[in-house]
Amino acid sequence: MQDAPNIVILTGAGISAESGLATFRGPDGLWEGHRVESVCTPEALARDPATVHRFYDARRAALASVAPNAAHDALARLDAEWPGDLLIVTQNVDDLHERAGARRLLHMHGELLSALCAACGARQDWHGPMGEGRACAACGAPALRPDIVFFGEMPYAMDRIERALAAADLFVSIGTSGAVYPAAGFVQTARYAGARTVELNLEPSAGSGFFHETRVGPASEVVPAWVNEMLAAG
Ligand code: APR
Repeated sequence: MQDAPNIVILTGAGISAESGLATFRGPDGLWEGHRVESVCTPEALARDPATVHRFYDARRAALASVAPNAAHDALARLDAEWPGDLLIVTQNVDDLHERAGARRLLHMHGELLSALCAACGARQDWHGPMGEGRACAACGAPALRPDIVFFGEMPYAMDRIERALAAADLFVSIGTSGAVYPAAGFVQTARYAGARTVELNLEPSAGSGFFHETRVGPASEVVPAWVNEMLAAG
């Protein structure tokens, strides 16, 4: 049997939109009148920690009222049944992929349900409001912050992502505008390494020209259809 292709999947806010979580650059992309970019920065955390914590406490609380949609469920099924290498790289900080059952998953922009110690770098699970001055479980410093990669900070697991892209036979981008690097450049890295590249998005994105194929439609429709094709082809 021909070896199953190695698959790398990149997901963005669009895969969670039908679960009720706002995207960043769509019409619902503002929060209390703030552009997200103005809240997700180290400078904003230093200048106005109360606002930054309020923003993330609100987003963390919103997770309790949303659920994975058919797109998350389809990717979790592919993850469970695909015999080849597979890695889901998500830019999202929600836990919907996990709740759908995905295992071969990494969050390159951090996670709402995690806290990072600005003093020692330790991470710990975090549910509920954080606010300012929370003590780190590892070092005790009152220095916990949201475990979110802010603009200007280095995304997580880039070595692992680059290795996966170099070995990919198929790169699939789902629900992302292609507006933010390094994720926006993954399609070119994968294509350079010889992978077939497919985009599944509500509308063509800034990076559509780099993909061999773009399928337009809501993730809850186009992702299950694509997963069914992949599993049928085997
Ligand atoms: N199904 C599929 N795609 C959708 C849907 C849907 N129901 N709704 C919206 N989209 C698409 C939009 O067309 C858009 O291309 O999802 C994309 C969302 O783009 P952004 O709001 O820019 O979100 P994303 O690409 O994930 O942003 C990347 O920017 O703000 C930072 O760190 C943040 O991880 C985020 C990064």
